[in-house]
Amino acid sequence: MSFVSVERHGDVAVIVVDSPPVNALSQGVREGLVKHIELAESDDECKAVVIICAGRTFIAGADIKEFGKPPLEPYLPDVVARIEACEKPVVAAIHGTALGGGYEVALGSHYRIAAESAAIGLPEVHLGILPGASGTQRLPRLIGAGPALEIMLSGKPVKASAALKIGAIDRVSADDELKTNAIAFAEECIDTGPRRIRDMDAPAPDPDLFQATREKIAAKTRGLMSPERIIRCVELASTVDFDEGLAGERELFLECMASPQSAGLRHAFFAERQVSKVPGLGKETETRELQKLAVIGAGTMGAGIAYSCLAAGFEVTLLDNHAEGLARGEQTVKELYVGGVKRGKISESDMQNGLGRFQISQSYDDIANVDIVIEAVFESMAVKKEVFTALDGVLKPGAILATNTSTLSIDEIASCTSRPQDVIGLHFFSPAHIMRLLEIVRGSRTADDVIATSLKLAKRLGKIGVVVGNCFGFVGNRMLYSYGRESQLLLLEGAAPEAVDKALFNWGMAMGPNAVGDLAGLDVGFKVRQERTDLPDDPRFYRVADMLAEQGRFGQKTGKGTYLYEEGSRKPTADPEVAVMIRDEAIRLGVQQRDIDSQEIIERCVYGLIVEGARILEEGIASRSSDIDVVWMNGYGFPRYRGGPMHYADSIGLAKVYESVCALEKRFGSMYWEPPALLKTLAESGGRFAD
Ligand code: CAA
Repeated sequence: MSFVSVERHGDVAVIVVDSPPVNALSQGVREGLVKHIELAESDDECKAVVIICAGRTFIAGADIKEFGKPPLEPYLPDVVARIEACEKPVVAAIHGTALGGGYEVALGSHYRIAAESAAIGLPEVHLGILPGASGTQRLPRLIGAGPALEIMLSGKPVKASAALKIGAIDRVSADDELKTNAIAFAEECIDTGPRRIRDMDAPAPDPDLFQATREKIAAKTRGLMSPERIIRCVELASTVDFDEGLAGERELFLECMASPQSAGLRHAFFAERQVSKVPGLGKETETRELQKLAVIGAGTMGAGIAYSCLAAGFEVTLLDNHAEGLARGEQTVKELYVGGVKRGKISESDMQNGLGRFQISQSYDDIANVDIVIEAVFESMAVKKEVFTALDGVLKPGAILATNTSTLSIDEIASCTSRPQDVIGLHFFSPAHIMRLLEIVRGSRTADDVIATSLKLAKRLGKIGVVVGNCFGFVGNRMLYSYGRESQLLLLEGAAPEAVDKALFNWGMAMGPNAVGDLAGLDVGFKVRQERTDLPDDPRFYRVADMLAEQGRFGQKTGKGTYLYEEGSRKPTADPEVAVMIRDEAIRLGVQQRDIDSQEIIERCVYGLIVEGARILEEGIASRSSDIDVVWMNGYGFPRYRGGPMHYADSIGLAKVYESVCALEKRFGSMYWEPPALLKTLAESGGRFAD
């Protein structure tokens, strides 16, 4: 099958790439581009060339599915070089997004025109690599080292109008006239001839720029290898000649490509796209119409959810029985809008429009007509049941009844309604307007169209919806219990809270578990544990957190938790009093304290996650190991470049993981470390969780 064809418009050859869904640069596309450039060059009737794409977008990059496999000729850098070497002027006509290798094809072209709605970008950094088809050498020559670094290090797409301003494209066209205008542009270029970026002046060496850039991105790119290599490539662009720069880019590109980081980030890319394909839920599944929405409970979570839904264009009623709480929630929503305007994230008119769709109420009668309710009240089964009974009494037939519970059984909540098929869990993460994850919890009787509608809702809210099964804590919080259990045991056994946090932070977690506990509030988990009837028979289980909560040390909100906080500060400092409290408790419980190194901290916490993840897979609570990875990368700050806990386990090799878990079982007993049967089977058969 041919992915590239040609049309003739007068003396302009229009090369059309047509390789759905996103015209990625597969081997067939690369071959077709070279073939048609060569044909155009040898055709005396042809005076100029346009490269344009069919479908929804210009070339969206190299074909990521080919990564990690033996490369096939022609290689992308050679394709780009061949386009640039063309003796007739070549114009790239961009619509949709010209990303990565796609924009590099445009940089190999001699001129660039883009539709008004189009964007260009070099997002390779998100895949743990760098623009490896000459982008690091061409873009700095075209727009200067500073702006080129900005584009490559952020990986963010740049809209056509902004790209025009910085010279990353030459012209902007009305969307529906792109092809006509590109052909006209090519005609104009016949006299001017090719304009090759490789012949442009290199940017002047600027050591200050590189040093300042390194400092600026240090915190954000912690642990990542490709940003530093991108900077080195741009340094090369300004210090050595073009071909030497290309050779340097190649070497650094291949180093990144072969790294586990890139494998982890590529896994993350596909896992996040896979997640919306729910086994057993066909594309034909109908969805319910959602426009009017109510949020019950005006606490921080409820207000955050309400704001998210307003921002996505819904009509939202925030309901709370308590007038004071409701007023506070209303204020929170307004403050989120004002903050968004102040930071330039939204316009004044967006705010007015959003607040125009916002109502508050204390009466269930006011929400009888909504299409979906999201309950975000206190995490107690009794309270949830009260709310759902009331909702069942007033809501119109077909309305969706969603609960934001983070741990409780959806089936039990549904059991107090006459419509369990309409009940679902929508577990938002705090802060709800920022965190991308939405765990969609299907109860045993939840209807398929309710699940499909929830997935659509997640997309509309700009979130990643992951469908999971019903059990205590679902996927995310159930695994968090294993991770937290180990981090808590480590404290009793003698590791300082700051040592535990530092080890896991340095390993790549967004925050250490003790700092997270203080941020979330130690009272929250304490209350949940008090409601649980299935806790292990182990006095050490979460003992430190419980002890702190019992003393009113709830974390940041009370100025002290595991750490101390100065008035108005979120910076944790170690509290010697806590060290003494933990030591005394260890003595009381007969736990021998000892020196614990960071390797043990990481191994016990991360393997705790993997073991629980394996059980979750075994029980079918998650339908794919990659779904678990998506939950942990987007909801719990698991380092993306490690691909999530299950991918991380696969990358170590399950035989090795199994061996380590058996060693932990031998050392610490079977209560927590009995290897799941799935892990054992896969380890013995050389399999992976991903299989
Ligand atoms: N290679 C292979 N498949 C790709 C792809 C790529 N570069 N980009 C997207 N796809 C696939 C997706 O996996 C998805 O497949 P399924 O339908 O089977 O799940 C399909 O195309 C549609 O993708 P999205 O669901 O993401 O569609 P969207 O409309 O929301 O977004 C997009 C489109 C903006 C192009 C987005 O897909 C995207 O950002 N793609 C990645 C772009 C990228 O990173 N390019 C750089 C590649 S690396 C490179 O080019 C290296 C180099 O210099 C040599």
